[in-house]
Amino acid sequence: MASQLIQAGIIGVGSYVPNKVLTNNDLEKIVNTSDEWITSRTGIKERRVAEPEQAASDLAFEAGRKALEHAGLPPEEIGLIIVATSTPDMFFPSTACLVQEKLKCVNASAFDLSAACTGFIYALNVGKQFINTGAEKYVLVIGAEVLTRIVNWQDRTTCVLFGDGAGAAVLGPVPQGRGIISSYMAAEGAGASLLTLPGCGSRIPLTPQSVEQGLHFISMKGKEVYKFAVRVMEEGTQRVLQQAGMKVEDLDMYIPHQANIRIIEHAAKKIKLPMEKVLVNVDRYGNTSAASVPLALDEAVKQGKIKSGDNVLLIGFGAGLTCAAVLVRWA
Ligand code: UT7
Repeated sequence: MASQLIQAGIIGVGSYVPNKVLTNNDLEKIVNTSDEWITSRTGIKERRVAEPEQAASDLAFEAGRKALEHAGLPPEEIGLIIVATSTPDMFFPSTACLVQEKLKCVNASAFDLSAACTGFIYALNVGKQFINTGAEKYVLVIGAEVLTRIVNWQDRTTCVLFGDGAGAAVLGPVPQGRGIISSYMAAEGAGASLLTLPGCGSRIPLTPQSVEQGLHFISMKGKEVYKFAVRVMEEGTQRVLQQAGMKVEDLDMYIPHQANIRIIEHAAKKIKLPMEKVLVNVDRYGNTSAASVPLALDEAVKQGKIKSGDNVLLIGFGAGLTCAAVLVRWA
C-alpha cells in the first residue's frame, strides 16, 4: 500500500442509450395519461427502450467500451469493474463479470453494487478508495439499467417515469488537488418501503401468485420520495462543499440524478444555484436510475461544457433510501 494517498479522478467517460424512443404521445396510447401531465409534473418528453435481446450488460458494455476509448486505455489495464444496477441480467453471476468478459478486461476483478439511483455515485466512492490506496491503478465504474423490464405498463404513476441507458467512467490517478476532492454517502433504511421491487427475492420468491399481484414491478410512494430527494440534495451538496472548503458559487457544473425537473429546480433554488450551471437531460431520457448521472456527465464532457480545473458536483438519490455526492475538480 502506498504511504501517501494517491488522488483519484475521472479520466474517461462514455455512455450508451438504445435507439428506440418512446414519447409521451406513445404512452397516451398505452395508459390513461397525457403529454401535458407528464411534461408539467416531471419534465420528461421521451425515454429510450432496450430491444428485447438487450440486457443491462449489453448497455454497460457499450458505455464501458466508449469510456475506455475516451481514457485511451487498453482493456487489460483495468483492475476492477463495478457495475451499479437494479436491473442486472440475472441474480448471478454479476453483470460486472459479464461486462468483464465482453470488454476483455482480463485483469479486472468485478462486482455489482446495489444502491438504486444512487448506485453510480456509491460506486465512484468505492472505486476511488482502490486508487487512493494504490490497490488498483484503474477502475471502471458503470451505471446500467433496463428499467422498462421492471415497470408495470398498466400503472401510469410509474411507467411514464423510467427509461433505459448506461453511462461509464474510468477512474485513475490524477495530480494532487485534482479529481475527487470530497465525497459523501448516506442511507436511511427507515424509508426502504417507499421505493421497492418487492418480489423475486428471498422475501417473496417468484411464484404465479407474486406475478398475479404484480410484485415483480417497481412500487413507489412518489410524494414521499420527492420530499426526501429535495432534502438530501441540499444536505449532500452542503456536505461535499464544506468538506472541500468551498461555496456554491465555486461550482462550475452541477450534475444531479435525473428523476424529475421539479425536484432538480426545487433543490437548485434551495441551494441558490442558477439553473445555467445544472445539467438537465431528463426530458430526453426520463429516469434511468444508476445510469442517469454518468449519462448526463458524458453529455456535459462531450459537449465541451466541462474544462480542466472546473468544479463539478455529481449527486444522486434513490431507493434505500440512499444519497451520495462527489465533488470533482476536473483533471
Ligand atoms: O429515482 C428514484 C427517485 N424517484 C423520484 O424521484 C420520484 C419522486 N416523485 C415524483 O417525481 C413525483 O411525486 C411524481 C412525478 C411521481 C408524481 O407527481 P405528483 O405531483 O407527486 O403527483 P401525484 O402522485 O400526487 O398525483 C397527482 C394526480 C393523481 O390524481 P388525483 O388522485 O389527484 O386524482 C394521480 O392519480 O395525478 C394522477 N396521476 C397521473 N395522471 C396522468 C399520476 N400519474 C399520472 C399520469 N398521468 N402518468
